[in-house]
Amino acid sequence: MPTSRRIRKAVFPVAGFGTRFLPATKAQPKEMLPVVDKPLIQYAVEEAYAAGIRDMIFVTGRNKRAIEDHYDTAYELESQLEASGKNALLRIARSVAPEDMTCSYVRQPRMLGLGHAVLCAEHLVGDEPFAVLLADDLMVGPEGGEGVLSQMVRTYNNLGGSVLAVQEVPLDQVKRYGIVAGDPMGDGLTQVRAMVEKPSPENAPSRLGVAGRYVLTPGVFEEIRRQTKGAGGEIQLTDGIASLMKKESVYAYSYKGTRYDCGSKEGFLQATVELALAHPEVGGYFKDYLKGLAL
Ligand code: UTP
Repeated sequence: MPTSRRIRKAVFPVAGFGTRFLPATKAQPKEMLPVVDKPLIQYAVEEAYAAGIRDMIFVTGRNKRAIEDHYDTAYELESQLEASGKNALLRIARSVAPEDMTCSYVRQPRMLGLGHAVLCAEHLVGDEPFAVLLADDLMVGPEGGEGVLSQMVRTYNNLGGSVLAVQEVPLDQVKRYGIVAGDPMGDGLTQVRAMVEKPSPENAPSRLGVAGRYVLTPGVFEEIRRQTKGAGGEIQLTDGIASLMKKESVYAYSYKGTRYDCGSKEGFLQATVELALAHPEVGGYFKDYLKGLAL
């Protein structure tokens, strides 16, 4: 039996090379690219924190030190801001890592796939359910409503099985996603019966694509360990979950909110425009600026 049923830990696989963003990602992690004024990783960590999670586990690789530095104390910067009385900026710098949050780091020595990256965190997660967040999917909850991971944690608490965030995707895009199909249960929930990574449109069991948020039971580690290389020659998380599904219930949850695929240039630009328009400091100016463009 798992030692805790509460979701206390979140895993952030951030070991990928981010090749779609070269040259920006040649020497810095994709997860540190800012949307307006915050790096992608911070949006994901804040979403996990808002869902009640305090133990953040980063699966990193080479060139990812900037992420560790972002969640460490910046002594020189803070003392400079303090000395010059820039208290609002000091609060912003300090708020990145709230005191009740802990960060752990583990390296994925070789890029063997998302499933393998999650497996690298097994000893830090232990025998309890946990969340996985892919920071390049920037998720914005409905206005005034719960964040996407909070919705999923609540769903997990109600159902007690793994929960995958899903959205309907156009047929010509199914090959970019893990696709699930199963029995609709109402309230945006589906009991998953089939799951396949990056299928061709002809082989896709549905158009329900998995977004980068998961709540998983610890049984998934054993299933990932048993996987051989799947789509793209990688150890796929999807295959581990598909195998878990034969032993435990797995649910797909149509989240409320918007997903920006910031692993792609198009999604990153959409996020930048929409979050800039909603930004309290620059939103008004930016709207006027956009209106003035001869498009
Ligand atoms: P992606 O394939 O979208 O990210 O992996 P990437 O490889 O960084 O980017 P491109 O495709 O080259 O532009 C999805 C997520 O899984 C993580 C990535 O960091 C990303 O957040 N990942 C993937 C790992 O941590 N390890 C892996 O071996 C593979």
